[in-house]
Amino acid sequence: MDVNNLRQSLAEAGQSHVLQYLDELSESQRSHLLEEVQSLDFTELNGFFRRAMDGFSASSSQDKVDARMEAVPREVLGSATRDRELLPEWEAQGFTQIADGKVAVLLLAGGQGTRLGVSYPKGMYDVGLPSHKSLFQIQAERILKLQRLAKERHGKDCIIPWYIMTSGRTMESTHDYFQKHHYFGLEKENLILFQQGMLPAMSFEGKVLLEEKGKLSMAPDGNGGLYRALGAHGVLKDMEKRGIEYIHVYCVDNILVKVADPVFIGFCVSKEADCGAKVVEKMNPTEPVGVVCRVDGVYQVVEYSEITLATAQKRSADGRLMYNAGNIANHFFTREFLQQVVEVHEPQLQHHVAVKKIPYMDTQGSLTHPEKPNGIKMEKFVFDIFQFAKKFVVFEVLREEEFSPLKNADSQNGKDNPSTARHALLSLHHCWVLNAGGHFVDENGTHLPAIPLKSRHENGTAQDHPRTNMQEAGDVPIQCEISPLVSYAGEGLEHYVKNKELHAPLTIDEHGIHQSVRNGL
Ligand code: UTP
Repeated sequence: MDVNNLRQSLAEAGQSHVLQYLDELSESQRSHLLEEVQSLDFTELNGFFRRAMDGFSASSSQDKVDARMEAVPREVLGSATRDRELLPEWEAQGFTQIADGKVAVLLLAGGQGTRLGVSYPKGMYDVGLPSHKSLFQIQAERILKLQRLAKERHGKDCIIPWYIMTSGRTMESTHDYFQKHHYFGLEKENLILFQQGMLPAMSFEGKVLLEEKGKLSMAPDGNGGLYRALGAHGVLKDMEKRGIEYIHVYCVDNILVKVADPVFIGFCVSKEADCGAKVVEKMNPTEPVGVVCRVDGVYQVVEYSEITLATAQKRSADGRLMYNAGNIANHFFTREFLQQVVEVHEPQLQHHVAVKKIPYMDTQGSLTHPEKPNGIKMEKFVFDIFQFAKKFVVFEVLREEEFSPLKNADSQNGKDNPSTARHALLSLHHCWVLNAGGHFVDENGTHLPAIPLKSRHENGTAQDHPRTNMQEAGDVPIQCEISPLVSYAGEGLEHYVKNKELHAPLTIDEHGIHQSVRNGL
């Protein structure tokens, strides 16, 4: 490696300082730093910085987007509650595509999980279910089950390949974890790990920050780093070779995610969409969730901070919030659309700016933990490409059936943490048991109150949904866990529970039903 050449190109890019401690480093630190520096294109990096900062100041000085914003029109909207009669048709369509081997899933698992605060990938996290399954295991088993369900319907073996995007911070441990657990029953060759890019954190003046004398402060380039990574690692080629046409993209931290949901896939395929987003109803105007909508006629996700409170509070005639399509980072793309994005649009996407407090090596060579934000991280978002869709559709689902993200540690606050994730899954499975005709009794044989999920289905509002309230109040739900290998979405449980009085804790897995034995029962 020619250090002089490297110094020269760094000087041209105004980033010479990254090698200022080179002489103080050990041999291995030195070669690590030089390798890291050589792998980056600093001219390109400076360009990313400039465009990101320009976009950032333009958006900060711009008026709110309220006046240019329209809600998702009914004709592109499907709903798990309002289109009940169409669900079987969409589901059948989805299963046909799965059975024909045209569907893949793609997991975004390159994040650092800073808020959760664990040193390993979030997908390995155990939220404390009776089975102690990790998020990765739950997702793997849902894929396995879907493959089996598609086979039952269509009489042929099929594969749903699982593409997993990791980052420099999560690749090795994700790989080792799956290997150690024998890919949770999936075929190794159908689980494809690839790595997204990393970018250095920058000061507000555009200087790369060092986290050690021999180490740049690197972070993954956002979940929209997906599009560059797809091209860089030949992922779309692999999909093409396997005959994949439709891809379900989702985040690792949603414990309820319906991986490769046949209803969602079938809905998008029936509408001949190239891009689709699953959403949940935003219920509270101040909930900090991005909403899917059109701005100047183009689909995008508008963050809560980009609109006024008055707009966030607007309601339609049916009493729902007007801008209520809450984005849950759960998307459908055709392979052809992704191909176009990678080849044509990706380079035009500018990075978003996240202003942060970033520990850095100061000019005296000591590590400083700033009290105020001192720099930025640059990220692209997975939804940045909605604007390029020719046919964009939106599918609204119930939050309590499909969305409970794991973001925070239990100690931090009462939202989106291991307890809420665990409770969401246990409560849903309790519902499945009730819907299949079983009911829980306590030690005296008294029926435990049912969760009226049905009332939610019927009137379509959720303001007083008891389960949501229960989760917020921190109550403990009935311990009821059903293995994804037994049921993907609540189907097939009658045989285990119909007309039975059940005792919690209850689990149903591929070996049968297990419940607490009380009063000699
Ligand atoms: P978040 O934005 O919630 O980030 O990611 P995170 O890394 O999980 O958690 P914090 O913000 O550090 O606490 C949403 C989804 O996008 C993925 C994450 O793995 C998660 O599935 N993601 C995020 C990536 O794949 N790459 C990234 O660069 C960032």
